[in-house]
Amino acid sequence: MKKVTVPLDTRSYDILIGEDLIPYFPIHLEGILTRNFLAIITDKNVEKTHLSRLVKALSASGIETKILSIDPGEGSKSWKTLQMTVDWMLANKIERNDIVVALGGGVVGDLVGFAAAILRRGIRFIQCPTSLLAQVDSSVGGKTGINSVHGKNLVGAFYQPSQVISDISTLHTINERDFLAGYGEVVKYGLLGDYDFYCWLEKNFTKIKERDTQTLITAVAHSCEMKAEIVVNDEKEYGDRALLNLGHTFCHALETATGYSDRMLHGEGVAIGCILAFDLSAKMKLSSQEDPVRIKKHFSDMGMMSSIKEISGLLPDADTLVELMFQDKKVVNGKLNLILTKGIGKAFIARDIDPVLIKSVINESLAS
Ligand code: GLY
Repeated sequence: MKKVTVPLDTRSYDILIGEDLIPYFPIHLEGILTRNFLAIITDKNVEKTHLSRLVKALSASGIETKILSIDPGEGSKSWKTLQMTVDWMLANKIERNDIVVALGGGVVGDLVGFAAAILRRGIRFIQCPTSLLAQVDSSVGGKTGINSVHGKNLVGAFYQPSQVISDISTLHTINERDFLAGYGEVVKYGLLGDYDFYCWLEKNFTKIKERDTQTLITAVAHSCEMKAEIVVNDEKEYGDRALLNLGHTFCHALETATGYSDRMLHGEGVAIGCILAFDLSAKMKLSSQEDPVRIKKHFSDMGMMSSIKEISGLLPDADTLVELMFQDKKVVNGKLNLILTKGIGKAFIARDIDPVLIKSVINESLAS
């Protein structure tokens, strides 16, 4: 097992990454529980695959549980499900010192984290992420929240968990597409700030594809170390935390264009967005022409999408996609800031990007 600490003073917490951690869950609660009780919130898919192992382990240690299972999918990051979750916690007399466990992927983690942040002005919560994307990104760093009719993640709070327990065994039950989408976020860490890690991923791609446990533990732990370092230096994203959004402005435009449907998963959009960021950086002569070619080759070795053209169904033209990019949070005074790169592992925040250049890389990606 590996342990990564997020040192945030009185709100510091550990991320535990290992094989079969769920059956040993009670061991990791020592010193944290104030009574033998845990609330668990999961979704109806994860309920079938992992909930019984968790409940069995807790009950064998005399820990009573109350369980809420929500509908799976992005639709649950809503006011309606938030209200239902908070009311459920109040109806079940979850106390100020109790802990709620978010067992599931990014949706469960974001929703439960936000519910924990507002219940009785804040109760503690533990992230137990069961998808690769949640293990390397959303469970770490304290971004919690729901979506609004005005856009994704527009209502929420920075609220750090008390612990993150990432059981790598859960990655053996997710489908190939979800696994690879999560892998897009793993590669992102190498691309944004660690050339050696990116080379290690290229070298180990077969083991990662086969989901070799030790290789995955190393990849998840390193991703968490990198995220922890960035979060500790800029918890509320006034500066360098934005580097974690490499590829995301392109991705958000594509998500809007595809209606947040399964035509393109978030992690797939991040992978395509990273390539576009490298294409744009190369076009602006900030980085080499070889970098995007090399990254596309790695994605293709992994069986991942790397261009807009690979997204199924009709897409808007480049003008419309650029317009959608201008809806992003990174637009300041009408100017678009983007995460670009001076090479693999060297991302930076670039200001006032020329929309004509963006349009040109999007057109190339639509045609490639
Ligand atoms: N997912 C990006 C962040 O946590 O800042």
